[in-house]
Amino acid sequence: MIPVQNKVDLKPYNTFGLEVTTRYFAEIFSESDFIALQQTDVYKTTRHLIIGGGSNILLLNDFDGLVIKNCIKGITSTAQADGSLLVKAGAGEVWHDFVLFTIEKGWAGLENLSLIPGCVGASPMQNIGAYGVEIKDCFYELEALHVKTGEKRIFSKQECRFGYRESIFKQEEKGNYFITSVTFALKREAVTNTSYGAINDELNKMGVQQPGIRDVSQAVINIRRSKLPDPLITGNAGSFFKNPEVNKEVYERIREKHENVVAYPLSNGKVKLAAGWLIENCGLKGYERHGAAVHAKQALVLINKQNATGKAIYELSAFVMQTVFDTFGVELEREVNIIT
Ligand code: FAD
Ligand code: EPU
Repeated sequence: MIPVQNKVDLKPYNTFGLEVTTRYFAEIFSESDFIALQQTDVYKTTRHLIIGGGSNILLLNDFDGLVIKNCIKGITSTAQADGSLLVKAGAGEVWHDFVLFTIEKGWAGLENLSLIPGCVGASPMQNIGAYGVEIKDCFYELEALHVKTGEKRIFSKQECRFGYRESIFKQEEKGNYFITSVTFALKREAVTNTSYGAINDELNKMGVQQPGIRDVSQAVINIRRSKLPDPLITGNAGSFFKNPEVNKEVYERIREKHENVVAYPLSNGKVKLAAGWLIENCGLKGYERHGAAVHAKQALVLINKQNATGKAIYELSAFVMQTVFDTFGVELEREVNIIT
């Protein structure tokens, strides 16, 4: 029997720190736990929300269904003939602890993704990325159980259809699978990626000339700590919006008036704009209403400044989107998953 609790406070389970509850709550420690949960009346008769660390969700209300917290642990590795390693992690492993584990072992690939909150199981959902690397760069495969049939399926990298903050699990297969493990292909030799400018600047500050993966991880940690609010102190879910990809014409139109617009050319001919720059240049940095605010150091992050409700944060996000559209003619898209 899988214990299902009634009326559980979700404040410790969402990094916005919202004071909301769930009607039912269950923790899953193995695949067979999930199969057993599927047989229960609660599972069969209510809607579900699977969570890891709750660091990319915005709960608008008390949840009237079953929240399923993935706690599946375990890390195993298999050496490949070419010297690389396949490292499989349970979906409930804490992402940053897993990254530190691989660094301790001297396995390269995930160091640029240090200090991202949340669990391993959510990492493929939006193909998490930071400082020039996305998980697709070393993703091998994942295992998942179908939420209706319990049938196990292995998704290859191609099948996950990774894109910028995108995967099949946010599109056609949205809500259909419970991810139980993710396998990464890592390298034994210390091949570092310091192409993202801020990393080199930080390494210089640290006095490191020939960085190994441990140095890159530390540089990323330092940069992140200086910019992003710590969810344990200030509720947030990281970037609230994606950086928008626009046509060259749109970019040129903005640049005519704002020479300093921050933008990155893409291989498809489009241009990615820094949404943080757009929001800041609408005068919204630090803007606050009903306890929800645009972070004063990083305008792409919305925060729970003072007892905000999920609705207040959502309404602030709608206001930010409208203001950016009215000012620059650019539509922002939310990155955070909105739970109604
Ligand atoms: P949750 O918030 O619990 O869930 C997110 C979504 O995935 C939900 O839709 C949920 O239903 C689904 N889900 C979770 N686990 C499973 C599972 N096992 N099976 C099926 N569905 C599942 N993201 C980045 O990409 N890059 C960053 O640099 C970054 N920085 C951040 C900084 C801060 C301070 C914060 C608070 C967040 C940041 N994020 C970043 C966002 C977030 O940390 C990631 O998206 C992370 O992968 C979410 O993991 P989680 O376990 O908390 O997911
Ligand atoms: N900027 C401003 N004002 C701001 C914020 C940013 O002008 O208030 C400009 C700055 O010029 C800066 C540029 O925007 O140089 C980019 O900012 P930053 O390097 O902080 O990155 P970002 O584009 O805001 C993205 C990701 C982050 C990831 C970092 C580092 C998205 C949506 N966000 O943020 O991911 O950690 O790059 O790679 O792509 C997340 O997804 O939750 C997240 C935090």
